[in-house]
Amino acid sequence: MNDQPLLQTRNLSMHFGGVRALDQVDFSLSRGELRCLIGSNGAGKSTFFKCLTGQLTPTHGEVLLNGAEVGGLSSAAIASRGVGIKTQVPNLFDGLTVFENLWVSVRSVQDNKSRDQIVEETMERIGITHLSKLVAGEIEHGQRQFVELAMVVAESPELILFDEPAAGLSAEETRRLADIIHELNREHALIVVEHDMQFIRMIGKQVTVFHQGQILAEDETDAILNNQQVRNVYLGKSAV
Ligand SMILES: Nc1ncnc2c1ncn2[C@@H]1O[C@H](COP(=O)(O)OP(=O)(O)OP(=O)(O)O)[C@@H](O)[C@H]1O
Ligand SMILES: [Mg+2]
Repeated sequence: MNDQPLLQTRNLSMHFGGVRALDQVDFSLSRGELRCLIGSNGAGKSTFFKCLTGQLTPTHGEVLLNGAEVGGLSSAAIASRGVGIKTQVPNLFDGLTVFENLWVSVRSVQDNKSRDQIVEETMERIGITHLSKLVAGEIEHGQRQFVELAMVVAESPELILFDEPAAGLSAEETRRLADIIHELNREHALIVVEHDMQFIRMIGKQVTVFHQGQILAEDETDAILNNQQVRNVYLGKSAV
């Protein structure tokens, strides 16, 4: 057994001038774990992801992936070590078909599979095979979210980061997304940032609450929903 966390941050801080977007964050994720991150607008969630993926170089502190320091490495170097991200910002080539979008997102080909095979298996897994020949710029928002998700999964990263994947999805699409996340979690560790508490309930695992760049609480979903401090700063009285 390997008890070393898959991901660990120590004293991780990211300052933008006087803004402490992240302030001494100690975070740990086990191999194969599924974790939700919640917190108000500006709490530091996306900044946290950007420090994990190399989009930002932390001001202080460490990011350890399988025990090795990766803080400050390039995005490409961190991606090649098995971290994939679906960002909050759209990331599709609108002029390419769905198939082509996935094809270009597969950087490395393993297990003697062809690139086409990997793309087809991934579309099957995410349930978007029927969109394969459509031009990305012409498909609707919800479907785009699933295509973007597939682009991350096609690389088969050990750790997948999703930044607000349910944003703008219908209730039915949100349920489908929760099922896909559970299915993905059989093979991948995931961290999911979300505002939608219904969706967090559907995922139903450990939740970390960010507040003003720090971790305010960390617990099972039900305990978080009943945590008075969390309710005061984030959920409000109507959320549960
Ligand atoms: N590139 C930047 N330059 C300056 N300030 C930034 C930058 N990126 C983020 N910030 C600030 O850092 C803080 C955290 O922002 P961040 O985007 O991480 O929040 P978030 O939790 O993802 O919020 P949301 O739920 O709205 O996506 C905010 O005060 C934000 O204005
Ligand atoms: Mg964000």
